[in-house]
Amino acid sequence: NKISLIGVPLQYGADRTGVDMGPSAIRSSHVQTRLEALGYHIRDLGDIHVNRTIEACAAGEKLKHLKEIKNVNSQLCQVVADEMDKGQFPLVLGGDHSIAIGTIKGVLQHVNKLGVIWFDAHTDVNTDETTFTGNIHGMSLAVALGYGHHELTSIGGAEKTIRPENVAIIGARSIDPGERKFLKEKGIRVFTMHDIDRNGMKQVMEEALEIVTNGTDGVHLSLDLDGMDPGEAPGVGTPVSGGMSYRESHLAMEMLYERDCLVSAEFVEVNPMMDQHNKTAKIAVELIGSVFGERIL
Ligand code: ARG
Ligand code: MN
Ligand code: MN
Ligand code: MN
Repeated sequence: NKISLIGVPLQYGADRTGVDMGPSAIRSSHVQTRLEALGYHIRDLGDIHVNRTIEACAAGEKLKHLKEIKNVNSQLCQVVADEMDKGQFPLVLGGDHSIAIGTIKGVLQHVNKLGVIWFDAHTDVNTDETTFTGNIHGMSLAVALGYGHHELTSIGGAEKTIRPENVAIIGARSIDPGERKFLKEKGIRVFTMHDIDRNGMKQVMEEALEIVTNGTDGVHLSLDLDGMDPGEAPGVGTPVSGGMSYRESHLAMEMLYERDCLVSAEFVEVNPMMDQHNKTAKIAVELIGSVFGERIL
């Protein structure tokens, strides 16, 4: 019941500015008090240092801001590994979704077989070869699986990877052609919005939990707020219509808590500049409450 909060004010993995303010928006929505009320001891480590002086990416740079993203994720990997050494649960606050590289690589220093729940409108399995945008936040899951640019896959050791059979993506509705091929080839289980509409979140989560816990030593939750419907969570950089509802998202979190399998979590892509009255940061804190055991009654 010891949690370390780690902020990562990174925006270089995304096209739109503002996501660097995510950690402070989540903190000011009282994430610490919320968790303390549930009986957790919180250590807020503050933010990982990000060089704020970089403006545009270098001309002809295929992967935008590769150097700074590698630098920040290497630091994050080390901090996450150090906190787990001390018996702390790492709770990482983003920042764009490229930070999943550092978080997962850090967790992999401790947990050999790691299951991953990837809650997202997107699947983030582009590589340097398939990307249309060059934005590294669209590549982080591929990197965690060991695919993509060497400067990224080498973070925390190239041999430390998650396995396709231990990954469940939930809420997907925007998948690039190269990603579709990748998901198929690797046999990654994707629960799309169609599956949620058809079978309900209860069944989807039961199946997803089976995939991520079967033969693993722990589960990481990577939650991109754009997985939710932008009508409810508008404060994200790459909104896609037709997402998960407020209640469906809470049910997913509650079922994760009941399964008692999480070893780490991250909440990413909260962009206060796109938000209405800090709604999305507040939802992030409410989902954090649910995944750490908050109940209505
Ligand atoms: N697939 C698109 C890309 O590669 C969008 C990725 C959005 N990712 C995210 N974490 N919001 O650029
Ligand atoms: Mn840029
Ligand atoms: Mn997304
Ligand atoms: Mn994402």
